Amino acid sequence: MMSQEMNRILNGIVDISDEEFNSIAGLVRSRFGINLTEKKKALVRGRLNKVLKQQGFSSFKRYYDTVMEDETGSGLLVLVDKISTNHTFFFREKEHFNLLEEVILPEAVNRHGIRDHHDIRIWCAGCSSGEEAFTLAMVVRRFFGGHVSWKRPSILATDISCSSLEKAVEGTYVYERIKTVPEPYIKRYFHRVGIDRYQAKESLKSMIAFRRLNFMEDTFPFKGKFHIVFCRNVMIYFDNETKVDLVRKFHRYMHPEGYLFIGHSETLGRDTGMFDYIKPALYKKI
Ligand SMILES: C[S@@+](CC[C@H](N)C(=O)[O-])C[C@H]1O[C@@H](n2cnc3c(N)ncnc32)[C@H](O)[C@@H]1O
Repeated sequence: MMSQEMNRILNGIVDISDEEFNSIAGLVRSRFGINLTEKKKALVRGRLNKVLKQQGFSSFKRYYDTVMEDETGSGLLVLVDKISTNHTFFFREKEHFNLLEEVILPEAVNRHGIRDHHDIRIWCAGCSSGEEAFTLAMVVRRFFGGHVSWKRPSILATDISCSSLEKAVEGTYVYERIKTVPEPYIKRYFHRVGIDRYQAKESLKSMIAFRRLNFMEDTFPFKGKFHIVFCRNVMIYFDNETKVDLVRKFHRYMHPEGYLFIGHSETLGRDTGMFDYIKPALYKKI
């Protein structure tokens, strides 16, 4: 608990003391695994000032105390929504999707006896506003062909951020955001819903189940194991302990010889004892 209330407001911006920052950073680390170093102080102050203003707080201490006292947990949800970095785009790190189509999916068909897209289970962990999950859905659809039925989604896409998940469920993007999608995919899987807006067709949406999930929970409510996990550009925000813990969970919820994709600027190390290193950003469950 912060001992002293700091109440400095300059040009309408509430300042944050070291003590206030440390309390908020500690809370965010313990509940969400996100590691806010001292360098992130200005960012935290900037992102949370809007919330303080909207909710009528004149200091970070009062805001923090209120979040801590809120038994509904909704204050925490708003906090993580503002703090988490949700940057993403379609076909990000494109080589992963080529590899998926050319090597990993054919291998899954042979090894796991998968016949169509209903049989494959992919977890898009840390899906943000849906671009990565929709990219996966397009690649999987194209690979398996055939008709989509409502039998079972192939992809579980999860995130902690409610506002990102709302965008993902709506599946509507301005042209600026879908311009990294090859034209044939846009034609096939999106329809225009405004001058400049495109929405994923129901046939694509039905392949994905979007759910809220916090990686920090001890167990996850999954019905089965996954053949493929994408968790890219997420663990980069975590400290090492949280990262190792999460990798252990991925291992627990994957089929043997399942593939784990991480971001190209991330690494698991080569001796996890749980995954074999295949190539940068790609690992295979032992
Ligand atoms: C930078 S985005 C990555 C999006 C996508 N995977 C990509 O590579 O384009 C990181 C995502 O991780 C989510 N995240 C951060 N901490 C989380 C946690 N504890 N549980 C679940 N999701 C979390 C954030 O909300 C954010 O949407």
